[in-house]
Amino acid sequence: MAIKKIITEPNKILRQKSLTVNKVGIDEQKLMDDMLETMYHANGIGLAAIQIGVPKRIIVMDISKNDEKKNPMYFVNPLIKNKISETSTYEEGCLSVPNFFAEVDRPKKCDVEYLDYNGKKNLIKADGLLATCIQHEMDHLEGILFIDYLSRLKKTMIIKKLSKQKDRPDRIIV
Ligand code: NI
Repeated sequence: MAIKKIITEPNKILRQKSLTVNKVGIDEQKLMDDMLETMYHANGIGLAAIQIGVPKRIIVMDISKNDEKKNPMYFVNPLIKNKISETSTYEEGCLSVPNFFAEVDRPKKCDVEYLDYNGKKNLIKADGLLATCIQHEMDHLEGILFIDYLSRLKKTMIIKKLSKQKDRPDRIIV
């Protein structure tokens, strides 16, 4: 396993559409292992492959609480089969949009069909945080970030600030 660099906004890579995975093989499993390690290392609860520069429709998540046993989840080619119109609101953040958070409304429940780590077809009935997290990650597969749901003004402001953060040289403490 290896920790990969997480791509941050603004970066065109994050805006590309990820491609369907034909077969879950060794390469995809290795990618999922790396994604999970990268996500844990960054203290995130979800990561899409495109966030480490791989345009494949693969997501890893772990929404277990700190004091709970780790519960990694893997979704390959996830597809929303059903969602309800009722929404829930969470304050979302994203490893690709560091240090910014905003409230986003999303369908409260959704059924998602996907292939698991072993390439087996599965269906999950997601609710609450799980539903929101899956939808946030699935947006990444379409090149969509949570800031796209904010007002143009707010989005522009965030991207501007992120660009400035990037221009700064790396900080070293010696
Ligand atoms: Ni994200």
